[in-house]
Order: sequence, then structure tokens, then C-alpha cells
Amino acid sequence: MGNITLKNVSKSFGATIIIPNIDLVIEDGEFVVFVGPSGCGKSTLLRLIAGLEDTSSGTINIDGRDVTSEAPGKRKLAMVFQSYALYPHMTVAKNIAFPLKMAGESKEAIEKKVADAARVLNLTNYLERRPGQLSGGQRQRVAIGRAIVRQPSAFLFDEPLSNLDAALRGTMRLEISELHHQLKTTMIYVTHDQVEAMTMADKIVVLNAGNIEQVGSPMELYKTPKNLFVAGFIGSPRMNLIEGAPADKHGAKTIGIRPEHLGISRSAGEWKGKVGVAEHLGSDTFLHVHADGIGMVTVRAEGDVGVSHGDDIYLTPDAAKLHRFGADGQAI
Ligand SMILES: Nc1ncnc2c1ncn2[C@@H]1O[C@H](COP(=O)(O)OP(=O)(O)OP(=O)(O)O)[C@@H](O)[C@H]1O
Ligand SMILES: [Mg+2]
Repeated sequence: MGNITLKNVSKSFGATIIIPNIDLVIEDGEFVVFVGPSGCGKSTLLRLIAGLEDTSSGTINIDGRDVTSEAPGKRKLAMVFQSYALYPHMTVAKNIAFPLKMAGESKEAIEKKVADAARVLNLTNYLERRPGQLSGGQRQRVAIGRAIVRQPSAFLFDEPLSNLDAALRGTMRLEISELHHQLKTTMIYVTHDQVEAMTMADKIVVLNAGNIEQVGSPMELYKTPKNLFVAGFIGSPRMNLIEGAPADKHGAKTIGIRPEHLGISRSAGEWKGKVGVAEHLGSDTFLHVHADGIGMVTVRAEGDVGVSHGDDIYLTPDAAKLHRFGADGQAI
């Protein structure tokens, strides 16, 4: 089981309030991603759940048990960090076995658990190597293996992939998602990478300055962001946020339109503009258009559109996909 409930949780360091007041329910077996800009309190929140920091107020429950003042070792959670401190002189097998050995488990039990974890993580052929003889991704898998053997009620990941290059990050992202399908254990995953959040999460928690801006499935956040912050944070390239006359026309302070929801035409359309930089990715083209009376608008067109720098162009937002926000920044 791995049901985690936070009630009125706050955290201050000295006089500085980092997390003002958070309520959050994480269901057993869920893959929950905490996402938000640097310094918004993601790691702090994870460390509060792990017991590595004390709450300033509020309660944390795991499977109905109040663990607020319980030591980290008693919470049955396993944490995987960005920098995976493996023991360099020990083999992969010994590194994975380490927590079990510390817990005094039998040799047979340890061997079985290490073999099981190695199979799940595709490390079976590397068990006798030392960390120095592994790639970054393999080392991170060893660190995850060390967490798996403890059979925790939840895994807590703090930006586990940010030391890896882009290609390896993509691969490891899939591996961790696959691992979650196999183990079905609750996972809380911290990242500031909204692509990781969108692709891995059952549920995303968007944090901003220690507050929860919105909680929802990736598609809920994409389709119905509750406010300007979430609208601007989720989605890549970013949603275009436009104020002034075009927004007035829709009875809003700000309108939002995602780059993929703008139609382009050479001859006619709602907004007139001139193409600035055109990024041709093959599968897509990103056009940065200087729109008259609006400013810079990003357009995502499928395939390789034959438009280049300096071309005159018309843009038409898909009315059904338009987002409207009031003066308070909340969605109308
Ligand atoms: N021990 C501490 N004492 C004082 N302030 C701290 C302490 N730990 C964290 N903070 C502050 O709390 C805020 C949140 O930090 P936290 O590490 O949770 O951010 P984060 O969202 O994980 O950021 P990043 O994406 O950069 O890892 C920051 O402003 C940080 O400076
Ligand atoms: Mg952090």
C-alpha cells in the first residue's frame, strides 16, 4: 500500500515561509509528478514526505498512519536522488544488496531480491561490475535497484534523470514508466521538466512558490489550465498569452492559444503578421510570427511548411481551443 495524505502542511526555514499550506492526496499505486520552476519547493515537499525535513505544521499520513513525527527509516519509503551515491568499491550486486544487508536479511533472501530487481532493471549481466564500469543510465538503474529491494510502499524520485544527456533521459523516462507498470507501487517524481511531467504522470501537481496551482491528469492540465501560471507552464512550445484588443473582443483580460491551435494562410485570416524565425524540425515547423497589434506569436504547423523568414502570413485561432483569463489570472 502507498496512500499518502498531506493535510495543512506548511514549512518554514527560520522566518522564510517556503510552503504556506498544502493539502494533497496521493492514491495507492499512482504515479504523481511534482513540477514547477526552480526554487518553488518541490524537493522540500518530497523531503517532508520522506521525513528528511520536519513539517512546521500539519500532518502527513501514510496508509492511514500518522507519520508526521516518525523517523524517515520507519516510513517505508525509498528515495532516489539526482546524484546516485553508489559505493565505488562494491559490485552492482553488493550495491543493490546493501540496504538488505544493513537490515540483517538472510543471504538467500538477499540473493533472490537482488536477482529479481536486476531482472526488472535489465542489470542481470552487470551484477559483477563496479559503478565505474557502467554508463550514467546504468548507474541510475543501480540506484533504483537499491530502492526496489526494500519493497517500499512508495518511491520518491528527486530529479533522477537530470545528470543524464537528452537521449538517455528519454530512454530512462520510458524505463521508469515501465517499472511503474510492473511494480504498481506509488511513485512521486519531482522534475522541473514539463515534458517528463506530461509523459510519465497519472497526476501532475503544479507548484509555484510553495503553493499548489493545480492538480490533474496531464490532459486536464493541457486542455483546461485553471490559471495563467499553469497555462504558461504546461505545454511546449508555450501557450501564446495575449492581452489588449484581441482579448477584449473575447471579454477577457488575457486570451491563450496554443501554438498547435493556430491555422496559417497566405491569403486571409484573423490576425496579420510577418514570419520571423522559422524552425524546421521535419515533423513540425515552429514559426515565430510578428503579428500586427499583438506581438510575437508562436505557431506550430505539422510537417514542413513552405514559409520562411519575412513572409507575410495570416493566423486564425481555433475558437474552440481558445482559453480566456480574467484580471485575477484565473480561467473564465
Ligand atoms: N535548509 C534550508 N534552509 C533555508 N532555505 C532552504 C533550505 N532548503 C531549501 N530552502 C529554500 O526553499 C526554497 C525551495 O527549495 P527547494 O529545494 O524545495 O526547491 P525546488 O523546487 O526543489 O528547486 P530546484 O528545481 O532548483 O531543485 C528555495 O528558495 C530554497 O532556497
Ligand atoms: Mg529540487
